[in-house]
Amino acid sequence: MTLSTTKESTTVNYLKDYRVPTYFIDEVDLVFDLHETHTTVTSLLRVRHNQLSHDPEKTLTLNGEELILESIKLNGKSLAAHQYQIDKNTLTISAMPDHAELEIVTQIFPQKNTALMGLYVSNQTYCTQCEAEGFRRITYFLDQPDVLAKYTTTIIADEKKYPILLSNGNLVDAGKLAQGRHWVKWKDPFKKPSYLFALVAGDFDLVRDQFKTISGRMIDLRIYVEKGTGDQAHYAIQAVKEAMRWDEKNYGREYDLDIYMIVAIGDFTMGAMENKGLNIFNTKYILAKPENATDEDYMNIASVIAHEYFHNWTGNRVTCRDWFQLSLKEGLTIFRDQSFSEDLFSKSVMRIRDVIDLRETQFPEDAGPLAHSVQPDSYIEINNFYTATIYNKGAEVLRMLKTLLGESVFRRGMDLYFARFDGQAVTIDDYIECMHEVSGIDLKQFKRWYTQAGTPTVTVVGEYHEAQQTYTLTFTQTCLATPNQLEKLPFLIPARIGLLDKEGHEILSEAVLHLKEASQVFTFKNITSVPLPSLFRGFSAPIKLNYHYTDEELFLLAKHDSDAFNRYEAIQCYLLNKLQSAKTDSAGVTALFQYLLQHETQDDFLLAEFLTVPSESYIGEQMAVIDVDGIHAKREGLMKSIAETLQDLFLEKYKQLHAATLQYEFNREAVAKRQLKNKCLSYLLLSPNNMALGKTQFLAALGQNMTDTLPALMGIVNQENAFREEALVIFYDFCKDDALMLDKWFAIQAACKLPDTLQTVKKLMAHPQFDLKNPNKVYALIGTFCHRNRVNFHVKSGEGYRFLREVVEKLDKLNPQVAARMLKPLTTWKRYDKERQALMREQLTILAKQKCSPDLYELITKSV
Ligand code: BES
Ligand code: ZN
Repeated sequence: MTLSTTKESTTVNYLKDYRVPTYFIDEVDLVFDLHETHTTVTSLLRVRHNQLSHDPEKTLTLNGEELILESIKLNGKSLAAHQYQIDKNTLTISAMPDHAELEIVTQIFPQKNTALMGLYVSNQTYCTQCEAEGFRRITYFLDQPDVLAKYTTTIIADEKKYPILLSNGNLVDAGKLAQGRHWVKWKDPFKKPSYLFALVAGDFDLVRDQFKTISGRMIDLRIYVEKGTGDQAHYAIQAVKEAMRWDEKNYGREYDLDIYMIVAIGDFTMGAMENKGLNIFNTKYILAKPENATDEDYMNIASVIAHEYFHNWTGNRVTCRDWFQLSLKEGLTIFRDQSFSEDLFSKSVMRIRDVIDLRETQFPEDAGPLAHSVQPDSYIEINNFYTATIYNKGAEVLRMLKTLLGESVFRRGMDLYFARFDGQAVTIDDYIECMHEVSGIDLKQFKRWYTQAGTPTVTVVGEYHEAQQTYTLTFTQTCLATPNQLEKLPFLIPARIGLLDKEGHEILSEAVLHLKEASQVFTFKNITSVPLPSLFRGFSAPIKLNYHYTDEELFLLAKHDSDAFNRYEAIQCYLLNKLQSAKTDSAGVTALFQYLLQHETQDDFLLAEFLTVPSESYIGEQMAVIDVDGIHAKREGLMKSIAETLQDLFLEKYKQLHAATLQYEFNREAVAKRQLKNKCLSYLLLSPNNMALGKTQFLAALGQNMTDTLPALMGIVNQENAFREEALVIFYDFCKDDALMLDKWFAIQAACKLPDTLQTVKKLMAHPQFDLKNPNKVYALIGTFCHRNRVNFHVKSGEGYRFLREVVEKLDKLNPQVAARMLKPLTTWKRYDKERQALMREQLTILAKQKCSPDLYELITKSV
């Protein structure tokens, strides 16, 4: 028996080294025998030599991690020790026949698996997470996405403890065994890569429904949740149906199996996972009822459900050749789920929020030491490449493609992609080739979005020529160097623009300019007066725009632009200008907000977004050196003065909306009203005089409506006042038996702007309900503090950095993926002042000296 240990930390994988597999595995027959101390996995593989691979040796190398090999048979005959070789993370068999049946028996220890990769036990439930390279922690396998096989899975377990046994595909057989054990057999008729394998065993509440597909087939829908929480899965199952309908309508995609299952798990590193026919979700993206979930939670649930469901075509039926193609499935699926949420909730607000997200997560990534292209050319640890660049920038790139091709041509390209590559593992190039074929557009230059990292800056200058009645716009694009990419070539950038006159009427309603050159001039004819350009409408490209608008021009755009995103953008731009000037004069801002409050009566949801001051991180992003304390002070100051000046207006709006939103209902109109109401409340609660209002809403909403509870509690917690401690105790008592609500209790305290927050966070780490092994708890407490509470994390003493380093050290031993996620803020040290730089680096250097996971190793070596 040999125990293979965790993997080597320094191997770099290169895209250019991609080779087709030397062997294929066409069929996999798995038997899992689940016991309290260990699990025995018997794997029968039908293996076939790949004629196209140039491998005269006929060697088969399988991946395996932390496995105990019990036995191995080739075509029914046990292999002798000299016929195979076990190295750290591989099992090699030489002199393989062209066709073979390989039986491998391994032992694994799911109960001890804290990495939550492979098969693990969480809260008396067995579940798996195999993407990206978790299947090799279950059995020896060719664990790469271009090996597609049909799987049959038998699960044997104690019937009382684990009455429900699930895997991919359809249930084909089941039976009882001696000693209270039972077994089931699942068969997945579709070929799939190993990362889509899933197994679940446990006891659950089950919520069921049905969906009739466009061709009239009935799909059995099932959501399995922890016992006692079934009443919280009804919204989720409605969302599944919405997603199914939407994909049929918008992409012509029908669900393929007869059953679609989701299991919700409390200990899950990611948000959710698209395993074929058996998605596994973090509970936070399934469970919701008015008293414990906010509007945001409801919207996130629908979008994550849609995301994983959409993967069935973009990821599962057509999958990735290798992990360098990750954005082929993730960027595309994000683009699809964003479009879904826009249709379902609000086109403008969802677009605004997606852009905020991109700017806060992806832009800094592009500007830092971990910058990489949407199709990276190398990685050490693939888990580190589930990034905002692969996901969100990848989605933006596809949105641009759709803008360039137009809706119907883009759809034809998608149809061609599905038709041509169904059942295959393909590349981003294959995808772009489809778009090229249907459109006839040369996309060579466009592909630079996939290969060049960095956020381009586009500088625009407008000139009006009265005599000729022409207007010219000169666009100049530049892109800074990123690690290993010093020179950048021009991108093909779609600029959706409009022109307004002095009154705000449209002179030119909409045009898409194709920027191709480093500098390019566009001339508009018959322009009879000085126009005002509305640039990059809808954020038509993931760029930084540089155009000098006067305050008056920004006001005009904010009030009259026909593009809601650009109205928002004009407001943000104006606010940023004010926040960046030496003395913040808030009169203009309050005048603008007052105008918006009085005139923007059409869309409360959008208005709430308009009334939002840019985040500290977005303000910091604009600065050469991020001035943590200055930004905080200025931003708080501006908000306070808005709150004071507009107090009456906010109160009036608040009262009016409050009356209309007492009973919680989740629908577009109600969400819009609540969002605006709570935006008003958040301004009102900046003044200690309004604490009573916060207290009243908090006490009334608690137990009824989390959307109203949370902002009230936040306002109360963020300042010293008599009710503060009591409110936290009341909230704790209400939520102490509900893990997801407890996460909110931890997060609210970690986000607190008061100066002793780090001490509170340290204390909370010792709270009996805090658990370093549970990713949601870590994200709620550590993540909120270190990633979102800038003033307190970046305290001048460096105490926050030391705290994070110590936590990361502990986490790395339990769950390296979570550790790596948490470490991220330290990698951005170059953006801060010299003192903070030194303090942050110091902590990274301490980590660098220790033995750590490849996940951490990669982030540290790339950032110091
Ligand atoms: N395929 C991913 C899950 C995943 C991520 C597996 C990283 C392994 C490593 C899934 O489709 C996904 O993208 N989930 C997101 C949520 C989604 C809505 C953006 C997640 O888990 O954060
Ligand atoms: Zn995904």
